[in-house]
This record gives sequence, C-alpha cells and structure tokens, in this order.
Amino acid sequence: MTARILSKAAAQFALGATGLLALILSMIIGLNIYYGPFMPIRSALIPTFVADSVDLKSATHQAALATHAHNTSLGFGEIVYISMPDRTDRQDAMNLLAYTFGLKLKFLPGVSGADISTKAIPDEVPKRLRLSELGCWRAHANAWRYLLDSNMDTLLVLEDDIDWNPNVKQTFETLSLQMQNSTVRLNEPSDYERANAPYGLDWDILYLGSCKHGGNPDFKNLVQVWDDPDVPDVNHLTKTTIEALKSFGLANVEIGKKRVLAPAYRTECNTAYAITRQGAQRLLFTMSYIGLHGAVDEDMTRLFREGRLKGYTITPPVFSQFRVGGAKDTDNKLPGDPRLGDSINGKGNLRGWNYDIKGSARQSMADTLEVNVWDDYKRVRPETFVGAKESR
Ligand SMILES: *[C@@H]1O[C@H](CO)[C@@H](O)[C@H](O)[C@H]1NC(C)=O
Ligand SMILES: *[C@@H]1O[C@H](CO)[C@@H](O)[C@H](O)[C@H]1NC(C)=O
Repeated sequence: MTARILSKAAAQFALGATGLLALILSMIIGLNIYYGPFMPIRSALIPTFVADSVDLKSATHQAALATHAHNTSLGFGEIVYISMPDRTDRQDAMNLLAYTFGLKLKFLPGVSGADISTKAIPDEVPKRLRLSELGCWRAHANAWRYLLDSNMDTLLVLEDDIDWNPNVKQTFETLSLQMQNSTVRLNEPSDYERANAPYGLDWDILYLGSCKHGGNPDFKNLVQVWDDPDVPDVNHLTKTTIEALKSFGLANVEIGKKRVLAPAYRTECNTAYAITRQGAQRLLFTMSYIGLHGAVDEDMTRLFREGRLKGYTITPPVFSQFRVGGAKDTDNKLPGDPRLGDSINGKGNLRGWNYDIKGSARQSMADTLEVNVWDDYKRVRPETFVGAKESR
C-alpha cells in the first residue's frame, strides 16, 4: 500500500511536470490551451500510471489480492445458490449459513422441468432425462445468463444442499496464492488477471464441489499440489476421492494433508463451481444453443473430456453435499420413490453428515448458536441461584 501511495505521488509529480511542459509548449507554439494550475487532466490519467507502478508479480501484491478471498463473495464477483422455490427449509438453512459465515448468498430460483416449454428444450436431449434434471439444467443456465448480464468477471454457483469447512475463507486465500502462481496454466496471466483476479481467469469453470474426480490419463504431472491444513483426514474421504488423489500422484502419507489442482477431466455433481464470463458463454453455447446430452453435470464432464470446456478441479473439493437421509435430501426424486426410504425427515439437520471436507459449516453454526441461559446465570450471577428445582 505504501508503494502504491508513493508511486501515486510520483505519478502526480510526473503529470505536474508534463502539465507544466505542455503549458510552456502551448505558450511557445501559441496553442490556445489553458492547463489551469498544472493538472486538469490528472484524474483521467492516473489509473494507468498507478497500474504501471504496482509490481503485479510481487509477493506483496499477490498476498493482498489473495485476501479478497475473505470478502462476502469469497473473492468471486458474487455467490448465487439455486434452490427450488418451495424448498423454503433449505433457503432458511442457506440464510443462516450466510449470516454465520459473513457471506452474501443470492437466491436463484430453481426451475421445475414441467414449466419448460417443449420448444425451449434443447436439441438432442436424451429420452432418459428426467423432468427434474431438465429443470435443474434450466436453473444452472439461468445462472450462466445472470453472469453474462452483469458486469462481474466471475460467479460462484452453489446448490442448496451444501456444506463447507468452517475455515473456508482461509482455504480460498490459500487457493488464490496457489492459482496466482499456477503451474498448470497454458499461458502467462495477463496484467488484468494479475491485478484483479484472485483465481486467475484462464478457465471456464473452476470445479469446487465435485463428487467424482480424476485427471486425463493421457497426460502426466499436470497437477499442482500443496499442503493444506483444511483437508480432512483420510478416514473422512470417500474411496473415489482417495483413488483420485493416488491417480494424481499423491503418496499414501500425503492423502489427508494435501490438495490438488488439475485441469478438469472427470467430474460429477454440481454442488459448487465458479464460472468466468467466457465460461458462461461457452456453457450456454454448448449446453443450450447446440444441445443437451444428459444431466447438466454429465454434460459438463463430457465437454471437459472432449476438451471443449476449460476447467480446473480441486481435490479434495472445497464444498460437499450435506445429507440427512430420507426424502428431504433430493429434489430430483419424488417423495415415495423407493430409493429414498420411508422417512421424509431422515435423521434431521443436527445429525446430518458430509464427506470429503474437514469439519462442517452446519455443525459450526449449530455450535455458535447454542446457548444455555440458566447455566450462564449460575456462572455469572451465582448469588441468585438457590437450586429450588433440584431440591424439590
Ligand atoms: C509466487 O511467485 C512469486 C514470484 O515468483 C513469489 O515471490 C511468491 O512467493 C510465490 N508465491 C507462492 C505462494 O508460492
Ligand atoms: C470480492 O472480491 C472479488 C475479487 O476482487 C471482487 O470481484 C468482488 O466484487 C468482491 N466482493 C465484494 C462484496 O466486495
């Protein structure tokens, strides 16, 4: 910051000098320009000078940019979450989580497949696709459009059955530091990326909540690996995740300690992903304009494999699904579907579970809100306590 102020002063001095020179010149060659007290055009020019004077490659600048991960949109432009309008229970949960973690989560209504006009269904949709999957695709497509209609660089898209590690902002700061020095990029970051984009912009999709992982077997060592204290213990990782980490080249002792960034190839579940403007364009183009070949996450992974969509995945993921058991767990199957079991409620929110992430935002929220008023009185105002209830 000091460097920025100093360089601003230097830039002002330079401009002042330029202004003076121009004034003298205009007097000499008789141009009818009045520059006023040296710098009337200063404000229009300074941003360029400041950008030039900040060392965008310096560790100081990188660290400062990485702290944007702590803002209310985790360093992305905004965060939206998709939720069926009638799942007010899940919206309540998202609202609580947002408030607990200092995040701004914008509700983006889910779409019922039956509300999509036959003419609006993309070409090439397979017959097996369920109406609910079609609705799910539409809701995600609306999120892509939302980004294109905005002036943001990136958007983080969440589904409403999500959980994350309570240290999530630190996780993203670490991810930003890694991605700013990415070893799996195809090109050097532009000055714009270095200046403004905590996670770079050289991707269509940054896959943050995949439930299946794996790199392209045709390529070797296309991974970036780092120590991350927020990776869960090996016994909280799914078999699939452990296998994927091994395929990325991690030794057994590294599993449960390290996180991996790799070009997206094998993915599943759209629990959480970020998109860039170019990503939103490409998704809307390939999965609406051209056609849709399966559920939205299946089609994305097809496009990754074919190399027609450029993504990165994080393994283990940063976000995971939160499960309670029973019919409340999915809006993809109707209550009464035998796969859901008998119960609507399952085990209840306080007994829910996740996998692949360390701790639980939901558990941490429950802990934060727990209170025992009478124990507090006993502790803080012991003289008022007579214990009548116990002695009765
Ligand atoms: C990234 O690279 C820069 C310049 O090479 C270096 O100063 C910085 O320490 C690196 N950051 C990380 C997190 O490795
Ligand atoms: C959070 O940081 C990102 C990256 O700098 C930025 O685009 C976004 O506007 C910030 N969000 C808020 C609410 O300041």
